[in-house]
Amino acid sequence: MKIRIHGWAMALLFAACWTPFAGAQMKAKDAGDQKWWQHAVFYEVYPRSFADSNDDGIGDLNGITSKLDYLKDLGVDAIWITPCFPSPQVDFGYDVSNYTDIDPMYGTFADFDHLVNEAKKRGIRVILDFVVNHSSDQHAWFLDSKSSKTSAHRDWYIWRDGKGPDHPPNNWLSTFGSPAWKFDAATKQYYYHYFYPEQPDLNWRNPDVEKVMFDVTRFWYQRGVAGFRLDAVDTLYEDPELRDNPLLPGVDKFGRPKQNQIYNRKLPEVHQVLQRLRKVADEYRAVLIGETWTRDVSQLQEYYGKNGNELHLPMDLMLTELPFSAAVYREHVGAVDAAGGWPTYVISNHDIRRPYSRYGDGVHNDDIAKLMAGFYLTLRGTPVMYYGEEIGMENNDPKRKEDVKDPIGVLGWPIEKGRDGERTPMQWNSGPNGGFTKGKSWLPVPESAKRHNVATQSKDPQSILTFYKEVIRLRKSEPGLREGAYVPLNETDADVLSYLRKSEEGTILVVLNFSASPQEPHFDLRKQGFASAKIRGLLRNAASAHDGALKSIKLDAYGVYIGHISQ
Ligand code: NOJ
Ligand code: CA
Repeated sequence: MKIRIHGWAMALLFAACWTPFAGAQMKAKDAGDQKWWQHAVFYEVYPRSFADSNDDGIGDLNGITSKLDYLKDLGVDAIWITPCFPSPQVDFGYDVSNYTDIDPMYGTFADFDHLVNEAKKRGIRVILDFVVNHSSDQHAWFLDSKSSKTSAHRDWYIWRDGKGPDHPPNNWLSTFGSPAWKFDAATKQYYYHYFYPEQPDLNWRNPDVEKVMFDVTRFWYQRGVAGFRLDAVDTLYEDPELRDNPLLPGVDKFGRPKQNQIYNRKLPEVHQVLQRLRKVADEYRAVLIGETWTRDVSQLQEYYGKNGNELHLPMDLMLTELPFSAAVYREHVGAVDAAGGWPTYVISNHDIRRPYSRYGDGVHNDDIAKLMAGFYLTLRGTPVMYYGEEIGMENNDPKRKEDVKDPIGVLGWPIEKGRDGERTPMQWNSGPNGGFTKGKSWLPVPESAKRHNVATQSKDPQSILTFYKEVIRLRKSEPGLREGAYVPLNETDADVLSYLRKSEEGTILVVLNFSASPQEPHFDLRKQGFASAKIRGLLRNAASAHDGALKSIKLDAYGVYIGHISQ
């Protein structure tokens, strides 16, 4: 059982002190805080599913605005809104047909400006999603490109002759299950698409494409946007000679021979264009977050740029693919932390099975959700939350093929069910559709929404939501958690992950039991400079320790203990 150590008075005091822009002093501090993104908690909003203000069954910008007080109370400093631009919605917004407008389904420019202003009043910044690799096939640029071989925009996309009838230019595959080339009967050439055929790849080797896309970022910065999450950055360039990718053993989830994508992913030119895009962002003090799927930490490291001149926050998405294990996480976090940049930790997003379903053992799911919060929200680095994680939302996968909305799920059924399950509506209360809409929701909420919802968990001092709020408040109030070095402890312990966040202004001990068995790790911090360490508990779940001389911490299954260390 979780025992809260903070009294309400203390909690309120911390909340008041650390609410961004709450007082004149904080305003001044934040204004000068050029590295605000290092101290911020980011929160991903999938607009279709967050809050529906007009009851058409689809979330919208006014819905997001109506929930800003909730986000502020949770401790969120920046929201990343996945694409809300005009789009035929084949890939739910990742097929953009106009980069400088708002899809009417989500609202108007006035609604957008209202959202940005209301967010600003609450000290929350707005980050948009920049779909850099491809547009929609309905974008005016592509319609013109397709219209003739000599059209003004022909070279804005990647058109090539095939090798013969029904023989595309090479063996590249779309990651969404089809070949990567689509034949156009009118001009008798193929165009390249790494994702759906409705998402033709832009030709970033054409300087006009780069110019217009950089101008898109300026347009939104001038409208008050604080940065971008860059979609699919590693697919920006392709081999100009279009060489075939070598094959690998085995088949992918669509049953196709696997390929080593050396000629259509992660080309060196990606880093050069990111450096140029960063210069534009720097003009506006904006932040660039990357959707950086990487094989290892050294690849992740490259995205910071040699002189820190590429992405501010390349997301560590590897973490989402690792086995749930103290030993594995210790090794991984140690490597990411040592990579020289500011880490960006993510445990879920709209493309990944929700952690509640991924890690839950059916018995301790809520404790495991709190454990994950105690983990990635206390590391050195910036956390990017995904909506609903804070209430333990589970995946709600479609049960029948005919219910699937995500085209990958239709194509790959039943092995690949698509991503609907992790995109279901935010669960605000125990009413119909989890309080997301009074209309017909575009996706159903799971039965567990009756218990896992904001209204219910807000009243419960033991809830996942309360735990998230408390960890986030500690992140803001404890200098050790804001700035401190990550110092791993007890490095041979296979079950319990323990570390210090150590700074001149304060040191925090974090102890996390990644096993279902009780554990009692012992601590000797002399090597870390504490001759006779004393502990003062700050927050715990399924854990206990006496304040005073630090010897050991008792943890039940998946217990979390966070305490302040002094001499
Ligand atoms: C990554 C996005 O997160 C995903 O949802 C989308 O389908 C692809 N990029 C293509 O834009
Ligand atoms: Ca591309």
